Amino acid sequence: AHTATTAHTETMTSAATDPTRTPVHKTVLMCRPEHFTVTSTINVWMDPSKPTRTDVALAQWQTLHDAYTRLGYDVELIDPIDGLDDMVYAANGGFTLDGKAYGAKFTYAERIPEGPAYMEWFGANGFEVHEPEHVNEGEGDMLLSAGAILAGHGFRTSLDSHDELRGIFDREVVSLRLVDPRFYHLDTAMAILDGDNIAYLPAAFDDAGRAELERRYPDAILVDEADASVLGLNSFGDGRTMVIAQRATGFERQLRSRGYETIGLDLSELLLGGGGIKCCTLELRR
Ligand code: ARG
Repeated sequence: AHTATTAHTETMTSAATDPTRTPVHKTVLMCRPEHFTVTSTINVWMDPSKPTRTDVALAQWQTLHDAYTRLGYDVELIDPIDGLDDMVYAANGGFTLDGKAYGAKFTYAERIPEGPAYMEWFGANGFEVHEPEHVNEGEGDMLLSAGAILAGHGFRTSLDSHDELRGIFDREVVSLRLVDPRFYHLDTAMAILDGDNIAYLPAAFDDAGRAELERRYPDAILVDEADASVLGLNSFGDGRTMVIAQRATGFERQLRSRGYETIGLDLSELLLGGGGIKCCTLELRR
């Protein structure tokens, strides 16, 4: 069964016969990009001299919202705040698990007010809120996988916050250092496919991080530079269907060959802020 000699054969056999991909019901928090624009350069994708179009951002964001709704997700919304350009990137608003929400403490002044805004939302929506002592940018740098929390550091989230995480949640926390400024949050360099499986760009991690990922996930999908550069890894799914950047065509093929369904979307306007699908998505685990 594992002797496929060409990519084509592998695609045909495993995609057609793999009955094991069952969806897990997802609940997510999103924020409409009503005030989205680019006025700073807090990551290398951002260029304030390039014009942004809020109407286009809103329309593209809506396609993501609608894709989630069609997949049966519960989508909850937080009110956008005027002047907070980046609030649409809800993943950075915190990290939730077991009814607890670890609040975000942003690196850059531009986003600092988002921390309390998201914590207020968590408190009003049934979470036990843990105020952060250390700088961290929430689920942008903390991804839940098979019992462990994979946690990025190097550009935004501090290593100290990983210890804070260990103290709040009853999970192993695996620290991974990011080394490429284009992939400054873990969710730009790695995607969670389901409980056991991940995809990542090896070059985004230091040697120790790469070795750790190889050891833990020998069957991971290794995504290439071209797909990662359109933020193809910044994707979200329910274990059966991955919602991904439609320009990440190689990643799409890799996913399909492993038996995942894919939905490709264009979030190019939000890419001007250095974010994609996953950035606009915060998973709520009550
Ligand atoms: N402009 C935002 C920033 O630099 C983009 C955040 C993207 N979010 C993410 N989870 N990767 O903070």
